[in-house]
Amino acid sequence: MHLLPRLHLRPFLLSLIIVSSVAAKIIHLLQHIRTLPRSSFLLYLPTFFLFDFLVVVVAWALLQKTLGIGNVVGLAIVALVAIVDLSAASSQLGFFYVTGAEVRWGAATSVAADSGGLKLLLSGLVPVVAVGAAILVLASIISPLVWLIFDSWFSSVVNSVLTLRSRCSGGESGGRYLPLSNNEQKQPHSRKSIVLYVTVVFFTCLAYLQITRPPVPYDHMSGTIPFTLWEALNPAEKVCQSTEQQPFPLPELVSEDLWEPASGRYKGWNPGLVNSSSEYEQIFSKPKWAPETWPAGFGRWELQSNDTLDNSSYTESLVQSKCPGPFNIHNTYDPTIDPMRITNLGSDILEPVQKVLADHKVSIKHVIVMEMESARKDIFPFKMGSHLHEMIVDYYGTTEDSNMDELNAKLAAMTPIAEQITGESGNFPSEARESAERNLTWKDPSGPDMGGINVVGAVTGSSLSFKSFLGSHCGVAPLPVDFMFENRAEIYQPCMMHILDLFNQLKEERGVKATDMRSAKWKSIFMQSITGEFDNQNHLNDQMGFQSTIVKEKIDTGRAKYYHEDMKEINYFGYPEIEILPYLNDSIHEAKANGDRLFLSHFTSTTHHPWGTPSGFPTENYWSGDHLINKHEDNNKFLNAVRYVDTWLGTVMKLLEDTGIANETLVVFVGDHGQAFKEDSHITGTFENGHISNFRIPLVFRHPLLPRIDVAANATSISILPTILDLLIHTDSLDADDTEAASDLIHEYEGQSLIRPYKNTHNGREAWNIGIINTGGTMLSVASAAVPYRLTLPLTEEHTFLFSDLSKDPNEIDVIEDWDSNSLYSRIEKKYGEEAAHWAEKAIDVGHWWVNEKKRIWNYRE
Ligand SMILES: *[C@@H]1O[C@H](CO)[C@@H](O)[C@H](O)[C@H]1NC(C)=O
Ligand SMILES: *[C@@H]1O[C@H](CO)[C@@H](O)[C@H](O)[C@H]1NC(C)=O
Ligand SMILES: *[C@@H]1O[C@H](CO)[C@@H](O)[C@H](O)[C@H]1NC(C)=O
Ligand SMILES: *[C@@H]1O[C@H](CO)[C@@H](O)[C@H](O)[C@H]1NC(C)=O
Ligand SMILES: *[C@@H]1O[C@H](CO)[C@@H](O)[C@H](O)[C@H]1NC(C)=O
Ligand SMILES: *[C@@H]1O[C@H](CO)[C@@H](O)[C@H](O)[C@H]1NC(C)=O
Ligand SMILES: *[C@@H]1O[C@H](CO)[C@@H](O)[C@H](O)[C@H]1NC(C)=O
Repeated sequence: MHLLPRLHLRPFLLSLIIVSSVAAKIIHLLQHIRTLPRSSFLLYLPTFFLFDFLVVVVAWALLQKTLGIGNVVGLAIVALVAIVDLSAASSQLGFFYVTGAEVRWGAATSVAADSGGLKLLLSGLVPVVAVGAAILVLASIISPLVWLIFDSWFSSVVNSVLTLRSRCSGGESGGRYLPLSNNEQKQPHSRKSIVLYVTVVFFTCLAYLQITRPPVPYDHMSGTIPFTLWEALNPAEKVCQSTEQQPFPLPELVSEDLWEPASGRYKGWNPGLVNSSSEYEQIFSKPKWAPETWPAGFGRWELQSNDTLDNSSYTESLVQSKCPGPFNIHNTYDPTIDPMRITNLGSDILEPVQKVLADHKVSIKHVIVMEMESARKDIFPFKMGSHLHEMIVDYYGTTEDSNMDELNAKLAAMTPIAEQITGESGNFPSEARESAERNLTWKDPSGPDMGGINVVGAVTGSSLSFKSFLGSHCGVAPLPVDFMFENRAEIYQPCMMHILDLFNQLKEERGVKATDMRSAKWKSIFMQSITGEFDNQNHLNDQMGFQSTIVKEKIDTGRAKYYHEDMKEINYFGYPEIEILPYLNDSIHEAKANGDRLFLSHFTSTTHHPWGTPSGFPTENYWSGDHLINKHEDNNKFLNAVRYVDTWLGTVMKLLEDTGIANETLVVFVGDHGQAFKEDSHITGTFENGHISNFRIPLVFRHPLLPRIDVAANATSISILPTILDLLIHTDSLDADDTEAASDLIHEYEGQSLIRPYKNTHNGREAWNIGIINTGGTMLSVASAAVPYRLTLPLTEEHTFLFSDLSKDPNEIDVIEDWDSNSLYSRIEKKYGEEAAHWAEKAIDVGHWWVNEKKRIWNYRE
């Protein structure tokens, strides 16, 4: 009653190893095939499989029954390798199927180490299991054949070697020692010799190719699974960071004749004047506004009053480090020696803003930051005629106007709130717009010429959410290493919440009583409807100075104030945003009742993979058309989630009006990063994907009493903190002491203020936009406000350079990709000219310099 052919264990194990390794290798090669010259790819093709082959040979040898006691041990080893190979290959193929990218094991294990991360990984389990099953089936089908081929081939080779040896030594009994073959007597010697010669010649050539081929990128392509896995999980010892600032790669731009003296609040600019270990004594003097004791976040100011650094909390990471050295090395950011810093604080505030400020009618009592998950600029708002709109229309493929009207009506209803927030029209026909406006959750009561500053051209500082979050709340560039070392380090600038604590402290020390808005205390709150446990976010929030946080874990216990039985999670992270509405409402009411000023930060989440929406929320089919199989499922889900979040933003704006705080509240809308879909690039998602669709984000400073202006600036979210300070100062929303402190502090930050004309260049220096690509340490996005070029810089040998000219290819459909910088330059020169190639050269140097400098000021130790 055997329905399946009998499966022999040994052939099956061998076959499993072969199928797994070959499958993994093919996926690996597929990822690189676009970037390599066809001829060398074909030439070196066999060498890519050399190590896989050697592993198979060893496995085959271990499986031979004639090895006596080693028999069982050999079998066990091979079985273990087979299982590891199977799991690794299934994960690799499954991951590739979902994202188009390669698994990195080191990253995967860090993600799996926390519960949210594990759920994230498990969400991709179905394709992995499917691939695993397919491998098992294939391996069992071909196992008899594989065994036969290996058996006869090896027997021939081994036998002829032994025959040759016995002939040389005069013996005649060659085959007698051979346990491996059972039919060798029947084979003529000549055939065996031919097999031997062919084998020897083939492997000699292979060895030659293997030795002579260039190491990058081919070595990386030759790895075989059990070993690549081992290497990834046991990374080599890293080098310790320098504690000195490295010389800037473009010395002519920082030469002494360009230095700027301090004047007024401006601290001057003289990179290279002092070196970092002596900077404190020379530069710092206690600021006038200093409190008696420094609140958290001001370690840099505290440091100057302590001679040497003692065993304080933030030296902990140094103590734990593997790198030796005195612990009193503590590097910090110093704006006067930052060769990349360009300030625009010396320029006048934009005229329309200045006009309303002169009337003293605008005040900012509360600040709300809406950090929006995966908010691409092209869906904030979604516009007719955009690249995405055109793709949808093309796919729809209909010529009938009536259907087109129906489609446009659906699309116009996707982001009507974002249209009002940004003041940018979706440009849909008026009928489509009118029907979309019927159901608005919020209707902007301010006139069309009022509403605040809409930044066009903003990009994120990191496509990893929490790194991006640091940028928008602390005005810092995050650390270009994998994952969140930042959780354990002193953030090198005070975050917005720390500054508000300083304001509170200044009032406390002087015994100021709250009589009006300016003397009131600040309360900082963070809120999201999803878990705070992913990647240690709760810890990061504490580190960033939030006084309180509300996350999923606080709202879904029976003790929670608004707990209800039918709360439903919509993705592996938690609930839809609407679950925090009552808490949001409460914090506004409490702040009003206590006379506090609110700094509220809210992270939206529904637009995160897998883009689930609450069950009562109607889903649209944006990518429908006449096609039977919908190839655009993910993007369609995303667009539905986008519409959900759009209605949510309307709900929040409405709440601000209903609670009466709208006229005195600044609301900052910012995307944490974009999100690439297969409609945009061959790799989807943000993981190790530098595509521009992961970087363009909306950025709006919304205030109903500020004039509506568009500011064109290729700024990153590190400009948010200086802009908030600039607005607080110049709307006269701070008391005298706070104004003094804020006006001084604003000069400490790297970002430019977005209520002043953005400086793309200054004395030949460019306003660089450097973006860290998820997961942090493998690639860097290097761009500059001065040019339309963009470079993705690999930080490890496993990745390529990518270059694009956004003025000619705004959606990065045809990027230049290369392994080698020299051949990259010549290809750029051919396609975009000498200037572009020269810029790429600079960008590579600046990018590398920046990585070292950020590791230095974050006091990063491996
Ligand atoms: C930095 O300053 C310290 C103390 O002033 C000095 O000992 C050291 O040599 C300087 N290093 C460099 C590279 O100039
Ligand atoms: C400075 O000294 C005080 C008192 O010894 C200590 O509490 C604090 O942690 C020190 N700060 C730094 C940054 O070393
Ligand atoms: C410094 O702190 C660590 C733990 O944070 C502790 O183990 C060590 O004993 C402390 N060293 C001194 C000199 O206080
Ligand atoms: C408005 O909302 C109602 C109920 O929520 C829904 O049935 C209707 O389709 C919506 N209209 C538009 C234009 O979205
Ligand atoms: C840079 O800003 C301009 C507007 O000033 C915008 O058109 C362009 O797309 C921006 N670049 C990027 C990479 O977003
Ligand atoms: C907000 O809270 C107030 C007072 O507690 C309550 O009257 C109101 O209904 C709440 N609104 C929402 C939307 O929860
Ligand atoms: C907000 O300000 C506008 C313009 O000054 C005014 O018309 C409106 O009534 C104010 N709203 C509230 C709730 O005070």
